[in-house]
Amino acid sequence: MTTRRTWTAVPGLAALVAGALALSAYSGASSSQGRGPEQPIAFPHPVHVQKLGMNCLYCHNAANKSPDPGLPAVSTCMGCHTIIGPQRPASDVGPARTSAELQKLQRYADLAGGGRNARPIPWERIHKVPDYVNFPHMRHVNAGVTCQACHGDIQNMNRVYQYASLNMGWCVRCHINGYDPREGTRLATAADPTAARAVSQQGISGGLQDTGAGRQSATAAQPATAARQAPAAQTPPASGAPSPTTGTIAAPPQGTGQTSTRRYARYDCANCHY
Ligand code: HEC
Ligand code: HEC
Ligand code: HEC
Ligand code: HEC
Ligand code: HEC
Repeated sequence: MTTRRTWTAVPGLAALVAGALALSAYSGASSSQGRGPEQPIAFPHPVHVQKLGMNCLYCHNAANKSPDPGLPAVSTCMGCHTIIGPQRPASDVGPARTSAELQKLQRYADLAGGGRNARPIPWERIHKVPDYVNFPHMRHVNAGVTCQACHGDIQNMNRVYQYASLNMGWCVRCHINGYDPREGTRLATAADPTAARAVSQQGISGGLQDTGAGRQSATAAQPATAARQAPAAQTPPASGAPSPTTGTIAAPPQGTGQTSTRRYARYDCANCHY
């Protein structure tokens, strides 16, 4: 749809949106915003993203390809955790310890039994829109909307929670007002201002301690480098290269003919409802 046609449709749409305002869907009365369930393994995003510098797409490699990305398979973890096992020497990630979480991981992968009885990790899904909503996840990622614009500062979350309401008003507001890349980038690069507090509040059961600004540990240097490069190779050239530490797509989208930095999208009912 051209910009002009979009704008001539505004009065009619405004009336419809005003009607929809009354709906619980718009107001988010039933939203599960803020929900952060306990996971079968207390997986620490900050360790992998901030300390090891891994790209989001290394583990969420369908986020820019699929309408619904899914969660990482055990084999994605075992590329490293076959070697990086439960016996953890002291490092900037924590004191010397036996990691109960990595013991669980190796049990799911059936490392002891050679992997024949490997089971998928029953991650509890957090973000979900109803089935009657058309949400093409990859369109957003490929348009340069940072993960953090919708999911918050995941890189600082020791336990992931639902940052946005995901209700209709949330979707429509961004489509009408436009996505502000500066805000997306700000969230994507945000350091955790409350690192120490967040760790103690969220009570990571693996005994994880955040000792502040850490550097990449020697054991992980190799795989972390691969992590940065693999997704870049898969990304179509038009959407730019993901930045190494955040996995966000920094390059501005090209060929839209739009001089404005904001990115707008359709907000007619049929765009999001089949
Ligand atoms: C425009 C907002 C938006 C952006 C940008 C976005 N997501 Fe999502 N994400 C969502 C919504 C909404 C859902 C729920 C989708 C559904 O139910 O179909 C979701 C779901 C997910 C899921 C859960 C999928 C599942 O099957 O359990 C993962 C993982 C995820 N996103 C990761 C990412 C990553 C990584 C990025 C950046 C590369 C990203 N998202 C960018 C909005 C977004
Ligand atoms: C690129 C390599 C790599 C990949 C892939 C990877 N990890 Fe890690 N992970 C590490 C390193 C390195 C550490 C820090 C280990 C230490 O404490 O010395 C770590 C730490 C952890 C910890 C914290 C352990 C503790 O008690 O402190 C958990 C839990 C964990 N990883 C689970 C996973 C899961 C689940 C996956 C797959 C979704 C995964 N990891 C994928 C390298 C990786
Ligand atoms: C080492 C692998 C790994 C990396 C790297 C990683 N994640 Fe995850 N992510 C996971 C795992 C495992 C889960 C499921 C457990 C959990 O929720 O903590 C998850 C869960 C999520 C969810 C919630 C999915 C749901 O159920 O709705 C989002 C959103 C997400 N990640 C976004 C990101 C973003 C954004 C980045 C980059 C800043 C990133 N992840 C980097 C492994 C990873
Ligand atoms: C942070 C801003 C933002 C949020 C939040 C957002 N979107 Fe979008 N959406 C965009 C942008 C930008 C595009 C344009 C992508 C492009 O040009 O390819 C888009 C494109 C789309 C498209 C494809 C449009 C087309 O022209 O075919 C659909 C469908 C869509 N969004 C649905 C949703 C739904 C449903 C939600 C809420 C669950 C949502 N979006 C939340 C920014 C957002
Ligand atoms: C940008 C995407 C988007 C657009 C455009 C959109 N919707 Fe929705 N709509 C959603 C999402 C997401 C939900 C689910 C909200 C939730 O789970 O709370 C929803 C839910 C609904 C519901 C279900 C309410 C309920 O409580 O069960 C109705 C009815 C609805 N929309 C009507 C409309 C109408 C009419 C229009 C056109 C004016 C419209 N929608 C335009 C994204 C959109």
